[in-house]
Amino acid sequence: MTARASIGVIGGSGFYSFLDDVTELTVETPYGAPSDSLFLGRIGEREVAFLPRHGRGHHLPPHRINYRANLWALRSVGVRQVLAPCAVGGLQPQYGPGTLVVPDQLVDRTKSRTQSYFDGETRADGVRPNVAHVTFADPYCPQGRAASLAAARGARWEAVDGGTLCVIEGPRFSTRAESRWHAAQGWSVVGMTGHPEAVLARELELCYSALALVTDLDAGAENGEGVSHTEVLEVFAKNVDRLRDVLFDAVARLPQEQGTCLCTTALDGQETGLPLP
Ligand code: ADE
Repeated sequence: MTARASIGVIGGSGFYSFLDDVTELTVETPYGAPSDSLFLGRIGEREVAFLPRHGRGHHLPPHRINYRANLWALRSVGVRQVLAPCAVGGLQPQYGPGTLVVPDQLVDRTKSRTQSYFDGETRADGVRPNVAHVTFADPYCPQGRAASLAAARGARWEAVDGGTLCVIEGPRFSTRAESRWHAAQGWSVVGMTGHPEAVLARELELCYSALALVTDLDAGAENGEGVSHTEVLEVFAKNVDRLRDVLFDAVARLPQEQGTCLCTTALDGQETGLPLP
């Protein structure tokens, strides 16, 4: 098997393996090492690369993940469409544990993460400064979202179509005041890893969509108590099999090629000096 894949799946907390018959591939990138090896295999005719976001055994907390290396590594083996499951807290009482949200918006409340490949330095061609500004009004791929929602429906899992994922810096959970504030904005769910993953995918012209599994009610939601990591892992473990089933089906439902979505043209007309892998 050639070490290529067109679809990437990035597994979150409690989700460290995906496919059975895999080829393990170690990839180095100009940005350093990704969280782990890539695990390449097939779902039907589709070639898929799986990457555990926190590394096997969860040795990387959200603020130490090398998001640039992760997305670059996936693209370098041919990935163009990414499905990104993650654990989140519900910010609204109707989004209790076990709810699956396929968000259509994102709010970035991270503080210390490198958010771009375009850092202004002069790059490989020695001439062009490495600058680009991508459109990010709609941070998620409509086709990836549609495939994820259809797959959830097929599994009789009534997923929430749309909503806002607020991404905090972590690794601590929110205070009650922060959480109440997030909830009062009308945001749906809160997590720690959805950003800068989403924008880095866009900068590499990848289609990217998030599948946010609610593991707890965040501290500011009605009835929400303080969140514990143990609770997050327990609820994730209870749901991981059906989440895996949904992802298998979502992979099969993705279009064979990237479509005409904005993700694929994010760098059009921008002379960046950064050769994409
Ligand atoms: N991941 C899972 N639950 C979370 C929460 N309540 N806040 C932030 N990240 C989370």
